[in-house]
Amino acid sequence: MVEVVRFALNGGIVKDISFWSTQKVVPVVTIYDSSQAVKLAQTLIAAGLSKIEITLRTEAALQAITLIAQEVPEAIVGAGTVLNTSMAEEALHAGAQFFVSPGITPSLLQYFKVSSIPFLPGCSTVSEAMYLLENDVNVAKFFPAEDSGGLNYLKSISSVLATMKFCPTGGVNVGNYKNYLDLPNVVCVGGSWVAPSKEITANNWELIGAQARATL
Ligand code: 3PG
Repeated sequence: MVEVVRFALNGGIVKDISFWSTQKVVPVVTIYDSSQAVKLAQTLIAAGLSKIEITLRTEAALQAITLIAQEVPEAIVGAGTVLNTSMAEEALHAGAQFFVSPGITPSLLQYFKVSSIPFLPGCSTVSEAMYLLENDVNVAKFFPAEDSGGLNYLKSISSVLATMKFCPTGGVNVGNYKNYLDLPNVVCVGGSWVAPSKEITANNWELIGAQARATL
């Protein structure tokens, strides 16, 4: 919480990557039953992962964010799949402390500039990254990472986009995340492999905890 307040004061999309670099693997969670949210957050935190992204793709997502924000104070819970400012506003009211989008729009950029909340917009091309840099954003979700060229693409663009850092997500998994983290232009990775929806639905906390611990 202290961390989030500090970043809020500094401005959400200022050129400060440390909010995103403090946890190298961010679980991207799609949850279908909000009653499982607290147990999920407790499992991930016990394993050492306090920053958790809940995607806004299910009816349970906003309530899951609310429950984690209220009942698991150690969690830094964020909203993912933020496609527009209405979704951002709803997630903010639910208690989300950071925001992730698969892409970027002028209205989202404006919203987060004004509200000064940690925001990770998405990009998958050089032009999109240049547009973000022009708007004072120097960390972006690289999505969908594997389908957009993966490791080799990130290596290729590092020389021309020397100041841009990425959080690859989409196809990142237990077999390749370390290779992504080895790249100098990668600050963290995101992925659903740590806490897959089917394991959450099955209450498989032991497996999720083990997978989370393995990332550290
Ligand atoms: C995301 O929203 O970031 C992605 O859907 C996660 O992709 P993955 O399921 O391939 O990890």
